[in-house]
Amino acid sequence: MLKKSDKDQIFEKIYNSYKLFVEKQLKVFNGNRTPYTVYSPIKYILSAGGKRFRPILLLLACEAVGGKLSEAIYAAVAIEMLHNFTLIHDDVMDHAELRRGRLTIHKKWDENTAILAGDEMIAQSYKVLLKTKSSALKPVLHVYTDALVQVCEGQGLDKEFESKKNVSLADYFKMISKKTGRVISASTEIGGIVGGGSKKQLIALRKYGECFGKAFQIMDDLLDVVGITKQFGKKIGGDIKEGKKTYLFIKAMEKVRGSDRKFLLSISPSVKLSEVFVNRTKKIYFQSGAIAEAKKEILKNTRKAQQAIDLLPSSNAKSLLMWLPRQFLERTF
Ligand code: IPE
Ligand code: IPE
Ligand code: MG
Ligand code: MG
Ligand code: MG
Repeated sequence: MLKKSDKDQIFEKIYNSYKLFVEKQLKVFNGNRTPYTVYSPIKYILSAGGKRFRPILLLLACEAVGGKLSEAIYAAVAIEMLHNFTLIHDDVMDHAELRRGRLTIHKKWDENTAILAGDEMIAQSYKVLLKTKSSALKPVLHVYTDALVQVCEGQGLDKEFESKKNVSLADYFKMISKKTGRVISASTEIGGIVGGGSKKQLIALRKYGECFGKAFQIMDDLLDVVGITKQFGKKIGGDIKEGKKTYLFIKAMEKVRGSDRKFLLSISPSVKLSEVFVNRTKKIYFQSGAIAEAKKEILKNTRKAQQAIDLLPSSNAKSLLMWLPRQFLERTF
């Protein structure tokens, strides 16, 4: 039996080879296309890196049900573009300054440019998706479009919650399953469809994506507090400043009373918050046990994701799908 670290190293290498495969396809947008207002920001964000795990999940899901990588590549590229579209518009909505260690598009250019670049990106993503083999195209388009609808609805809830004080954990889970979970579960579901998976396999792959998505967004919420900008590529404390109802905020509100509770309730996106304010919030998150709860919840959903695909036949792709959520559990980026 291999030691864990050896296994991790091998899987990391395989992950990177899939990543390179995806990157190569994305290079189409590296040219100097005009109008520059439309294409320069697209080139800028696509060349800034990113984990690319959604397209990789899609490719792995396809292979895990016996499909060919070459048939899933267009859908994989499309899903990464859909994801990047959400990032561009999300950064406008969240007043974010940094993404992938660089200035966000609306900061480097302006908001109008960011809106347009996002629009073009989603249009281009459909163009790529349409190259998928015709027998799978209709169900694929169905899931893909549902993911786009869900992400918009989730972002709507995210925005509404900024000015709402009594957001429940159930509200939160609904919001993140829409804004983050569905693009991830659509990735695995689409991979399964292109690969010719059975109904049972598609349900399993979707469930895997949903649980992975939950764990992933809670981890993202956590990194907004405990992360390091240099690794995370985003400004730390952004969620606190924007009054976001993150897992940490909701858990802390469940637990604290008195002045700490009053303090958390005073957070409003309309107030310009100082670092002192952010630091006190962080302290409350730690002391209330919200940080520890978040870690538990991430682990729980990671396990659920793995269990969901237990029924898939043994393969290298399945092993990688089993490995990935655990890996992301320890991420700092
Ligand atoms: C960020 O996604 C948006 C969330 C859903 C939290 P990623 O963390 O996957 O961003 P990149 O693509 O790796 O930069
Ligand atoms: C991400 O939520 C949801 C998207 C649809 C992009 P966040 O707003 O937490 O993502 P980051 O932290 O800016 O990447
Ligand atoms: Mg954001
Ligand atoms: Mg957001
Ligand atoms: Mg975030």
